[in-house]
Amino acid sequence: MGATDVAPDATTPSVVCSGLDIVYTVFGAKQKGTDTGGELPLVERLLARRNPVSSVRKVHAVKDVSFVVNHGEAVGIIGRNGSGKSTLLRAIAGLMPPTNGRVWAAGRPSLLGVNAVLLTGLTGAKNVMIGGLALGLTPAQVRDRYAGIVDFSGIGDFVDLPMSAYSSGMGARLRFAISTAAAPDILMIDEALATGDAEFQARSRDRIAEIRRDASTVFLVSHSNAAIRESCDRVLWMEQGRLVMDGPTDEVVRAYEQSHRKATA
Ligand SMILES: Nc1ncnc2c1ncn2[C@@H]1O[C@H](COP(=O)(O)OP(=O)(O)O)[C@@H](O)[C@H]1O
Ligand SMILES: [Mg+2]
Repeated sequence: MGATDVAPDATTPSVVCSGLDIVYTVFGAKQKGTDTGGELPLVERLLARRNPVSSVRKVHAVKDVSFVVNHGEAVGIIGRNGSGKSTLLRAIAGLMPPTNGRVWAAGRPSLLGVNAVLLTGLTGAKNVMIGGLALGLTPAQVRDRYAGIVDFSGIGDFVDLPMSAYSSGMGARLRFAISTAAAPDILMIDEALATGDAEFQARSRDRIAEIRRDASTVFLVSHSNAAIRESCDRVLWMEQGRLVMDGPTDEVVRAYEQSHRKATA
């Protein structure tokens, strides 16, 4: 491939998922009629044995999912609660080991979501520092961007209070501001746009557009089909762990909405 005739960003994959299965192991779940103890590794058997009334249960959260996403694409992920959207993002971020199949990501993925871990005992200011370092920024870079991050979050003076004093919306806004400060190669947003007022949501959309212009990749999980339509050009529809549709936003969202209408008719 000639380096000059094709823009490398638009045609090179940034995330590849191949036959991906993710299975959670849940300890202490009561379950009748299923004894999976015999086929479990020793440690799991020992843990299960400590509490004889409970058992070990497997939750097959992502089933045989395959897709290729290129640089510069913004991909929405839709589906009902429990369909595996968050688990899929965690797998792409490298936070969940695949049970089967493979995930490959070019560059450093950054997962931003309502569950992203900030340390609630520490102030917002400390979390900006730690979060920035965790994203791979140098201390000097974090100091440079500090004011911009706090400004974007709109939390004002609260930045000097422990995060346990924040409303959930304030926490989510600070997480968004920290996670997008490093212009990650692959940005994954899990429901974060649902938080904040209209003004913050508009700024978030602008920020996503900006990151896309830098030819990185965006994954957006949202219950708001409007947000998906506005920010994504491609959508993956998950249903009970399976990828049931993968295509242009308009087509997939329309099919998804139709299936809802049938389900509630
Ligand atoms: N930490 C976990 N341990 C065990 N099961 C989990 C865990 N997280 C999610 N699950 C289960 O995996 C399935 C997919 O969940 P999730 O990925 O959160 O779906 P979604 O984000 O689409 O709502 C659900 O059945 C859920 O109960
Ligand atoms: Mg979720």
